[in-house]
Amino acid sequence: MKTMLLIQCSPAGTHSLSRQITTDFLHAHKSRHGDRNLIIRDLVQNPPPHLSGEFVGAMFVPPNQRSPQMEQTLSLGAELAEEVKKADEIVISAPMYNRTVPSSLKAWIDHVVLPYETFSVGATGPAPLLKGKTLYLICATGGVYSTGPKVSEDFLTPYIKFIMGFMGIKDVRVVFIEGVAFDREQGLIRAKEQIKTILEPAV
Ligand SMILES: Cc1cc2nc3c(=O)[nH]c(=O)nc-3n(C[C@H](O)[C@H](O)[C@H](O)COP(=O)(O)O)c2cc1C
Repeated sequence: MKTMLLIQCSPAGTHSLSRQITTDFLHAHKSRHGDRNLIIRDLVQNPPPHLSGEFVGAMFVPPNQRSPQMEQTLSLGAELAEEVKKADEIVISAPMYNRTVPSSLKAWIDHVVLPYETFSVGATGPAPLLKGKTLYLICATGGVYSTGPKVSEDFLTPYIKFIMGFMGIKDVRVVFIEGVAFDREQGLIRAKEQIKTILEPAV
């Protein structure tokens, strides 16, 4: 059975639109593609810490030169990166905060973009180590950023596409739950329509 990794980061609980549409997405995905082995990382229940000095001091040390202390320091990064490596599909469900990702999601990214795990380091620079994965990004925003005058203010979707591509995840499909500050219901209706579109073609 294929594995799906679900990342949740809205703190709004049952009021969260990203969580609500993600539930719809998971149902639609299941009826279209069948069961998945689901790994859930809720970054509100278990927020990854900001990177420490020890972490950044250890992350570029080649694995065969690391001390047991360094391994221990990097263990959460290794665990989170392992979940990404194991997943055939990744779902990131996120609100937009201040035009970009919430800091809990950024902290998760800082752990999983890990040398020797998700990208390689060498004389010619970094290279992606992941391939063949699909990322579904389900993002909720008060304003409208997929079209119109505020496209250039969206530092969430281009950033996620870039940083996932940096690790080798090139197939990124986005559901925008947008304009919810002005017309919540319309934002939800449009998001549900996009779910159908991004589930094709089959992965
Ligand atoms: C701290 C904070 C910052 C926000 N920043 C933005 C923003 O920059 N642009 C925007 O369109 N909406 C912004 N919003 C609105 C949220 O993106 C919107 O309410 C969304 O539905 C939140 O997702 P959720 O319902 O899944 O929690 C912000 C909300 C909060 C609480």
